[in-house]
Amino acid sequence: MDKLITTGGVPLQGEVRISGAKNAALPVMICSLLTEEPLTISNIPHLHDTTTTMELLAQLGVKLQVDEKLAVEADASEVNNVVAPYELVKTMRASILVLGPLLARFGRAEVSMPGGCAIGSRPVNLHIKGLEAMGAKISIRGGYIRARAGRLHGARIFMDMNSVTGTENLMMAATLAEGESVIENAAREPEVVDVADCLNAMGADIRGAGSDEITIRGVKRLGGGAHRVIPDRIEAGTFLVAAAVSGGEITVKDVRPQQIDAVLEKLREAGAAVETGGDWVRIKAPKKLKSVNIRTAPYPAFPTDMQAQFVLLNSVADGAASVVETVFENRFMHIHELRRMGANIELDGNTAVVRGVERLRAAPVMATDLRASACLVLAGLIADGETLIDRIYHIDRGYHCIEEKLAQMGAGIRRIPGNYLERVMPARAGAGAAG
Ligand code: EPU
Repeated sequence: MDKLITTGGVPLQGEVRISGAKNAALPVMICSLLTEEPLTISNIPHLHDTTTTMELLAQLGVKLQVDEKLAVEADASEVNNVVAPYELVKTMRASILVLGPLLARFGRAEVSMPGGCAIGSRPVNLHIKGLEAMGAKISIRGGYIRARAGRLHGARIFMDMNSVTGTENLMMAATLAEGESVIENAAREPEVVDVADCLNAMGADIRGAGSDEITIRGVKRLGGGAHRVIPDRIEAGTFLVAAAVSGGEITVKDVRPQQIDAVLEKLREAGAAVETGGDWVRIKAPKKLKSVNIRTAPYPAFPTDMQAQFVLLNSVADGAASVVETVFENRFMHIHELRRMGANIELDGNTAVVRGVERLRAAPVMATDLRASACLVLAGLIADGETLIDRIYHIDRGYHCIEEKLAQMGAGIRRIPGNYLERVMPARAGAGAAG
């Protein structure tokens, strides 16, 4: 298993280009299932999760062509399988997104039921309830969600909770349903809007994406088209925090600043100088950061996917602050690792109270989920000494070339291929691998 080694203490300088958004690229690629014409998608980030999505689509019979700039042409004219197997769903929960499109176009779908994961129980009841409201018959057997339907019909669906992939799944299914569907209390995340934009370019009739009520008038068929995935707002936010905690000054390019308003506001409150332009953000760290209270909530509020990075920021800021996680019930695994690096954090239910310390110290740490890993990498960039970060396959799921991008801004970071470490430094190879 690959690991990362960071050497702390270098303030980040320079600029970095943001890649396409993982959480938009996955559903947009899956939109190709809704049409027999080719869909061309550009600005796809090179990540394990995008590769897994391609593998899943290929298993369903979608023909994929990838060009040298990683644009993908997906041709779903000969889909011959409607099963998303456990082996893929267990590595990527977003596989659930094929349920709505397969059912809408082929009247059948079988998707392995995703289990809980490192950040919470993450049920999919809202996906199922919404599709049932559109006329699907759904049962759970052998760990699989088995769905059948004639042509789906439009429905008024109230989402009990704000669900990003739930909204996307139902919106995709409703494009081919008979009549009008309305999704109330829909997720407003920019990634939902990107999926709606792609579907509209394919001939769908979707209004209201980005608000909490989305109206979809079903059409008989969708065509192909071309779509460019939006920039990754969480990747951008992660680099901005990296600059802030390392005492650096960087420009993040190819980003949509208005999509990270909540994050920029907190960085300013922490004392950073933040400037924005049409597609860039410049940040200059203050001499000493001030701690900031955080409460995660659905967009446009502060994103749960930036919570771990701000726990780190508070760990080295002046003062004490609370970080409240309201979206997922168990998204604080990074705290135990940060404590091993000297952070002062108390955890009480969904609230972390973080008291800033002068400095963090290097220690072997273990990544537990995607954003927790990002937080540990950033911690390694500012800790005294060399930090060894294990289980970084989590970070490869969601950050395109993270070590190259950080190194280009001066960070001391390198990847150690697993087999090399096991041969040369057997004692360190096993570091942190308890259970
Ligand atoms: N929920 C239900 N029932 C459902 C669906 C969701 O109770 O049927 C609950 C969840 O348990 C959670 C809340 O609703 O408590 C919100 O979950 P949501 O469905 O919005 O999450 P998701 O769609 O599974 C996406 C992103 C996550 C991101 C969340 C929240 C993708 C592929 N994933 O997950 O991204 O944290 O929205 O913004 O879009 C990440 O990138 O690291 C990541 C985890």
